[in-house]
Amino acid sequence: MSHETIMKFLNKANELNLQAQQMEKMGSYELAKNIYIEAAEVLNQLAKIAPKSPQLSSWLATAEKYIKRAQAIADGTVFEENEAIKVKGGDLSKVDCGSVGERYDPENNKLNFEKLAGLKKIKDILHRAIEWSLKYPEKMQEHGLESTKGILLVGPPGCGKTYLVKCTAGEFGVKLLIASPATTYNKYVGETSKAVKKIFQCGAKLAPSIVFIDEIDKLLPDPSRTSDSSGVGGQALSTFQQEMDGAQSGTGFIVLMATNDPELLHPALARTGRVSYRIYVPPPDEETRAAIFKIHLTAKKLVLSEEINFEHLAELTKPEDGWYYSGSDIEEMCRRAKENRFGKIIASDEQKDDLPLTLEMIHEAISSVKRSISPRMIQRYESWASKNAS
Ligand SMILES: Nc1ncnc2c1ncn2[C@@H]1O[C@H](COP(=O)(O)OP(=O)(O)OP(=O)(O)O)[C@@H](O)[C@H]1O
Ligand SMILES: [Mg+2]
Repeated sequence: MSHETIMKFLNKANELNLQAQQMEKMGSYELAKNIYIEAAEVLNQLAKIAPKSPQLSSWLATAEKYIKRAQAIADGTVFEENEAIKVKGGDLSKVDCGSVGERYDPENNKLNFEKLAGLKKIKDILHRAIEWSLKYPEKMQEHGLESTKGILLVGPPGCGKTYLVKCTAGEFGVKLLIASPATTYNKYVGETSKAVKKIFQCGAKLAPSIVFIDEIDKLLPDPSRTSDSSGVGGQALSTFQQEMDGAQSGTGFIVLMATNDPELLHPALARTGRVSYRIYVPPPDEETRAAIFKIHLTAKKLVLSEEINFEHLAELTKPEDGWYYSGSDIEEMCRRAKENRFGKIIASDEQKDDLPLTLEMIHEAISSVKRSISPRMIQRYESWASKNAS
């Protein structure tokens, strides 16, 4: 069975599910029920013709979910449930998002696109993908567009994936919840499905919001690539797929994920239809490097010597033999140069604030930091991007 054929079935089921949800929202319950049944039939048919697929259990589980929904409509429980959704804030108030991740509220998030150097194309995509979906979900639907479901960011370490998400939340003035191995996954060892459910509940609770699952390869590695024989990984993956598929348009939150190891992800996790955009976040190019220097060499009392020119600094940090500096390498250079200057101010008798940061200080800092991105890494990411990136 070809990949294209499978995709056709999955897209069809997905489309029907969305239609059914729409009908339900409009109160056309009888029609919604029939469309849910049709969506389940498409998946059951797919399961029959591709019984050996590793995704079989997830298709069957989704089909079952659609049937349950149809049944709930038939026996009337859906009306009570829909009432409950209306008071979602109340229902979700018991969910403790503090245990799920680090939370950033727009009032305390000082980052925005101005603080994010370069990456123009990515900013454009995010404008479309996030701002439109959070602000105009209904209008989009009226114009035949689906709201963004999820966005996967892929790229080498230190090139701004996490930082870019924080800037995005600040730019659009929405809440952000960051789930990562440090804040979340360690607390839910052996209970990944529960963690996944909570992450989605918190997205809904905090709406309008962005939920960022950082290092998603650690939360949901492809079970066939790990030594996990407990089935916990497979179960968590299928919970995630269901939650993503169920995250209907207009729910007011968008799931962003990041990895620097896309090969470790299960193909179904980031397939079209489940994730709307797959974005490659590359090492900074010349213009971006200049802008990163500018951002990190700007402060109220930071005086720069006149000989400093950001374009020149970008030129000094260009790739060499295929090795690139990352954004965090450049940030580190700036930190070292500023520290050098500050040390001199503190050590001097007058402690004069106007001591300039010199080109020599920067040269010294640049030569003390090694390029952290290797040609092999670049080749791996570019090959992924050419096959997968939006
Ligand atoms: N485009 C950029 N503009 C401004 N600063 C940047 C940019 N890219 C990277 N940086 C700086 O580099 C730091 C590291 O970036 P970040 O932690 O977001 O990388 P990452 O891609 O998430 O890395 P990892 O894969 O290791 O998690 C940021 O805190 C930021 O200061
Ligand atoms: Mg990161």
